Amino acid sequence: MRPLFVVLKPLCFLALLGYCPSATIRPKEGWQVYSSAQDADGRCICTVVAPEQSLCSRDAKSKQLRQLLEKIQNMSQSIEVLNLRTQRDFQYVMKMESQMKGLRSKFRQIESNRRTLLTKNFQELKGKMNELQPLIPVLEQYKTDASLISQFKEELRNLSVVLMAIQEEIGAYDYEELQQRVLGLEGRLRNCMNKLTCGKLMKITGPITVKTSGTRFGAWMTDPQASPKNNKVWYMDSYTNNKIVREYKSVSDFVAGVESKTYNLPFHWAGTNHVVYNGSLYYNKYQSNIIVRYSFESGRVTTQRALESAGFHNVYPYTWGGFSDIDLMADELGLWAIYATNQNAGNIVISRLDPQTIQVLNSWNTEYSKRNAGESFMICGTLYITNSHLTGAKVYYSYSTKTSTYEYMDIPIHNQYFHMSMLDYNARDRALYGWNNGHQVLFNVTLFHIIKTDDES
Ligand SMILES: *[C@@H]1O[C@H](CO)[C@@H](O)[C@H](O)[C@H]1NC(C)=O
Ligand SMILES: *[C@@H]1O[C@H](CO)[C@@H](O)[C@H](O)[C@H]1NC(C)=O
Ligand SMILES: *[C@@H]1O[C@H](CO)[C@@H](O)[C@H](O)[C@H]1NC(C)=O
Ligand SMILES: *[C@@H]1O[C@H](CO)[C@@H](O)[C@H](O)[C@H]1NC(C)=O
Repeated sequence: MRPLFVVLKPLCFLALLGYCPSATIRPKEGWQVYSSAQDADGRCICTVVAPEQSLCSRDAKSKQLRQLLEKIQNMSQSIEVLNLRTQRDFQYVMKMESQMKGLRSKFRQIESNRRTLLTKNFQELKGKMNELQPLIPVLEQYKTDASLISQFKEELRNLSVVLMAIQEEIGAYDYEELQQRVLGLEGRLRNCMNKLTCGKLMKITGPITVKTSGTRFGAWMTDPQASPKNNKVWYMDSYTNNKIVREYKSVSDFVAGVESKTYNLPFHWAGTNHVVYNGSLYYNKYQSNIIVRYSFESGRVTTQRALESAGFHNVYPYTWGGFSDIDLMADELGLWAIYATNQNAGNIVISRLDPQTIQVLNSWNTEYSKRNAGESFMICGTLYITNSHLTGAKVYYSYSTKTSTYEYMDIPIHNQYFHMSMLDYNARDRALYGWNNGHQVLFNVTLFHIIKTDDES
């Protein structure tokens, strides 16, 4: 058996193990929210214990309580987002499941017909069917996981109601400790969410055309490290002879053409494969293999570093050319450079970069010729390569940096406007940003987790 695709297993789950309104448990230190990373089933566990009544000094810190409530509301919103995503995947899984079931009953029919039994095609199909069988319990598991999320949601809602009631009833407390714990919990929730969204690419849907503007080649993006409320868009038209970056406060401002800021970079860029990550723009300096890190906040270049041995200036571009030799991108695991070297015979090299220093932390050599690649993007440490920049393209090859192995695949991508000159994953939005022949487009991706099965034989 090959590895199976499994959905959402380690799942994030908040358990309110011991909430106690005023009586039973009476710890000394006041309110406590204990959160542990994960239990054996991969759930986040959170325990809330109420303070001893007598210790509840009324030192007018209702502001803290309000903030705490807000925090919990924010967490609820995160869960809401998570839930949406889960529901979306769930729909897909359900569809797959019913298709498989349909397939199975079809086979039963055919099987009863002895003549067709003999054909080679049928045997092949039957083999494929058997391969798919183990997926069914996995799908069942997925349903359970999805219900865990709604439970998580409900418990957060309950916690929030309880806190609100206490605020009304007793007024203000010293909640600093509790606040700290909630902060910690929030961090873990975020980690869990990242894990939950990580997985193997299964499907690409869309595109949605956000805007039609600029030349045939360009780049647009948002910062995956920015907070959910910060939706600034950066826009870099054309692949050469340009150093003007346009900033928009939001996607709707971008659509309306309401610019908020313009940056004049000190050096021209090459290609369209820039990335904005954690407040900085990373781009390939024209006619060099130097990567430039430009801070939007200071409006200055903070770091420059050559990507050793990387081909540049159309030595190893993607199929469409356009000085697309060095592709910078970010995913759940950080910042990456995709390029090719003579040492690796013009095949794609993947390097993980330190976002501060742009130093190469680690590299992987693939056997996929860069010049034959349409575009590539990284999701959860796996590089996905499309076989063309033209219509009919599909995600054809993937390379996992986790296992240092590759795989051929066949995931269609709808290239609506014929020529794709940029395609990059944004982990925060869980979307692919594309520049499709002068159209700025977005694709959704569906990801699944991978577990190993032991029945290799
Ligand atoms: C809740 O989220 C909003 C918007 O993201 C933010 O302004 C606010 O500071 C957050 N509140 C807390 C307590 O984290
Ligand atoms: C949330 O509160 C409702 C009403 O108090 C209760 O019925 C429900 O069991 C609680 N849910 C959880 C998950 O604790
Ligand atoms: C993002 O930048 C902040 C400082 O601006 C830094 O503290 C943080 O570690 C950075 N995050 C990543 C993932 O590089
Ligand atoms: C992606 O999915 C979200 C949530 O289901 C939806 O609102 C959005 O329109 C989708 N975008 C694309 C490009 O399909």
